[in-house]
Amino acid sequence: MFIEIKGIKKSFGSGESRADVLKGIDIGIDKGEFCVLLGPSGSGKSTLLNIIGGIDSADEGYISINGEKTADMNEKALTMYRRKHLGYIFQMYNLIPNLNIKENVEVGAYLSDNPLDVDDILKTLGLYEHRHKLPNQLSGGQQQRTAIGRAIVKNPDILLCDEPTGALDYNTSKEILQLIETVNQKYNSTIIMVTHNDAIKNMADKVIKLRDGVIRKQYVNQTKVAAADLDW
Ligand SMILES: Nc1ncnc2c1ncn2[C@@H]1O[C@H](COP(=O)(O)OP(=O)(O)O)[C@@H](O)[C@H]1O
Ligand SMILES: [Mg+2]
Repeated sequence: MFIEIKGIKKSFGSGESRADVLKGIDIGIDKGEFCVLLGPSGSGKSTLLNIIGGIDSADEGYISINGEKTADMNEKALTMYRRKHLGYIFQMYNLIPNLNIKENVEVGAYLSDNPLDVDDILKTLGLYEHRHKLPNQLSGGQQQRTAIGRAIVKNPDILLCDEPTGALDYNTSKEILQLIETVNQKYNSTIIMVTHNDAIKNMADKVIKLRDGVIRKQYVNQTKVAAADLDW
């Protein structure tokens, strides 16, 4: 098992305002697997992703990557883990507004010891001709592609995507999903993608359903569909 998520619990607040968001989450993910994590809004998807990404910490349980528990890593090791092994894509693109498209992707490259070629990535993502523009001169889809470029240029083992198409229209969403699918196939990165769009589960190797702080369902999808053939 490449990623082992075991007994993860997380609460926010205390006393009357205490919210038990994750109540004991167990998930196993193989290397190169494309996982889609489904759940209604407020079900704890982002919280779980942030714990996997080492942005937040769990109250109980552990995350182990390739046999090493993230909680056993010291601050420096955790930073290195995030820097070298993880790519993160958010719903809002979080680009640096006064850097151009190429420079935004280069930000990711600087963090890695073995980055992919920035120009190659810009070409793959259809951004090469726009590389000297600022983010606000591009469409939402192009900005999200830039954010994908910044995440994958590090050549991460694990790509965490939190509602990456949440702010995009139907056609642009499908384009972005196809790109994430390409990243999974081309670089064999392990992907955990959060969504509340049920149709997206069809492109996954593994589907994980979260509700009320527990995993309701976790199964290998036997009838995988290409992102281009998704419909909703
Ligand atoms: N830092 C926080 N402090 C307090 N409550 C939080 C915090 N982060 C998330 N929550 C609460 O935890 C619940 C799950 O949030 P979240 O993980 O963002 O859900 P999802 O991503 O599935 O929509 C929500 O009720 C949210 O209000
Ligand atoms: Mg969320």
